Amino acid sequence: MNEHDLISEVRSKVDIVDVIGSYLPLTQKGKNYFGVCPFHDDTNPSMSVSRDLQIYRCFSCGASGNVFNFVMNYEHIPFREALSLLAKRAGVEITGIHLQEKVNKNAPFYTIYELAHKFYQNNLSSVQGKEARAYLKNRSIDDSVIKEFGIGLALPERSRLVDLLKAKGYDLKTLNQIGLASEDHDTYIHRIMFPLHDLEGKVIGFSGRIYDDSKVNKYLNTKETPIFKKGQLIYHYAIAREEVRIKKQVIVMEGFMDVIRASTIGVKNTVALMGTAMTEEQAKLIARLSHDIVLCFDGDDAGRHATMVNGEHFVQMGIVPKVISLTDDDDPDTFILEKGKERFLGLFENAISFNDYKLKVLKEGVNLNSEEEVAQYINQVILEASQWEDEIRQEIVLKKLAKEFDMEYNTLEKRFVQLKEEQTQKKESLKTTKVIQPPKKRKDKYELAVLSILYYMLLSDKVVRKCEREGLFFPKEEERILASEISYYYKKYGIMNIADFYTYLGDKENLTQLLTEVIGQDLGDTVDEKEVDLLFKVVKEYNVNQEVVRLQKKIKEEIDPLEKAKIAERIRGLRMGS
Ligand code: UTP
Ligand code: MN
Repeated sequence: MNEHDLISEVRSKVDIVDVIGSYLPLTQKGKNYFGVCPFHDDTNPSMSVSRDLQIYRCFSCGASGNVFNFVMNYEHIPFREALSLLAKRAGVEITGIHLQEKVNKNAPFYTIYELAHKFYQNNLSSVQGKEARAYLKNRSIDDSVIKEFGIGLALPERSRLVDLLKAKGYDLKTLNQIGLASEDHDTYIHRIMFPLHDLEGKVIGFSGRIYDDSKVNKYLNTKETPIFKKGQLIYHYAIAREEVRIKKQVIVMEGFMDVIRASTIGVKNTVALMGTAMTEEQAKLIARLSHDIVLCFDGDDAGRHATMVNGEHFVQMGIVPKVISLTDDDDPDTFILEKGKERFLGLFENAISFNDYKLKVLKEGVNLNSEEEVAQYINQVILEASQWEDEIRQEIVLKKLAKEFDMEYNTLEKRFVQLKEEQTQKKESLKTTKVIQPPKKRKDKYELAVLSILYYMLLSDKVVRKCEREGLFFPKEEERILASEISYYYKKYGIMNIADFYTYLGDKENLTQLLTEVIGQDLGDTVDEKEVDLLFKVVKEYNVNQEVVRLQKKIKEEIDPLEKAKIAERIRGLRMGS
């Protein structure tokens, strides 16, 4: 079987509705299925999935494609991996077929990291690893955890790794570039090594921890390299992705030791931000795992701060996370070690919504004897409440406030209404200043005719041949390319299959978007020849008009009266239809 047939077989053996439905909830409306698009921030069901055509499209962000496109974009994996994933699902054997793989210029870096990773792992089990093993044992990290998380050891000597990699033919410059060497020696010396993985699970960096009482940075992380991008890194992402699918919830922690500890008690739907501020990209990646997000940060001031900032970030994205607040100087790691699995799991039952958490934090530290502070607190609570959507909760909170501070409910409500109005006005003014892009231009009859012709070309190669026979000229370049790709596809494969055609177009996004627009017209599944004739006429008329406009411009610039007359004659001819 050739490559195209095999890809097409895999595609036709899985149902796009089932596949997308396994990632996000879909509801049927008429012929199609709808869900919240995972490719942009949204809460409305703007993505439609068609079982007939085996494609999806988002009316809001324009994402579209077949089942391969969806899995590639959702899982951040290349085509080859999406194919093998879906082949497994379809029960189709794909070994023995060599798909063209894009040459990845970073490929050698991954290989070097694999070597370094193995090297560090070996060190830990060697005689010289005794001290480090004792440290880990003392922290209750046993052999199975060491293995599961690929923990290793950089020995105290200056250039053990560099010597090994140089002997294997890698030059110092490369090793410096990818953060494994600093000048002529190892970057990591005398540290316990925790491998860091990219979203697909490949080792791309390390975090090295000191294990004696030297007074240097506790953890040393890989610098930014061509493959290690800190702002995109989320610890434990690849594994959590599998677990979140089962548990339908993702837990976010601060440190990777917390994630490792949670894993020892079977809680593996966890990720760690590695102590840094959460970037936009990281927030989106986490939200993509699940909208049920639990923040479980350290119990110290830094942890509370991280909860507030990151929680707010998710709220801005339309997700209200849950919060588990640890106390004192506990982190999930020490909490689990000292208080055990059951008490840790118990925390989840008492997790509170971020909205409530915020109110709690607002109240902390308010001096009830200071009228000024109390007034400020009351104002803040009302401000918070005015931003919620839940009217019942708003009323409950206002009533509680009134009772607690012995105030008139009406006073609070007046302030509430005032703040609410201010916000509406702000939103309105944002709206009016934001109209940078004009409202979507309605298509004229020519543009619609072109889209319709392309639609009918997809339905029948008779229309394709008619185009070729009559030499129909599509006004825009993209339309011309798409038309010629359609025609080529028919010649090569005999029939048109929309979903396979998406695979054929590959990553040419301007074409797939146009294709989606064409299909979006929903003109049914039969070709009316009279209708097609009419559409052809419209497009030809457009071309004639364009030509006339061009000639009229030319006539104005022409000085030679004889030439002028010739052009005028040509224009007359065009208008008469010759
Ligand atoms: P923590 O200091 O909370 O780490 O920093 P931890 O998980 O409790 O580590 P142990 O228990 O002392 O071993 C949280 C995260 O911040 C980053 C690390 O990624 C860590 O997981 N960090 C911390 C650094 O990058 N460098 C540091 O020096 C300290
Ligand atoms: Mn810790």
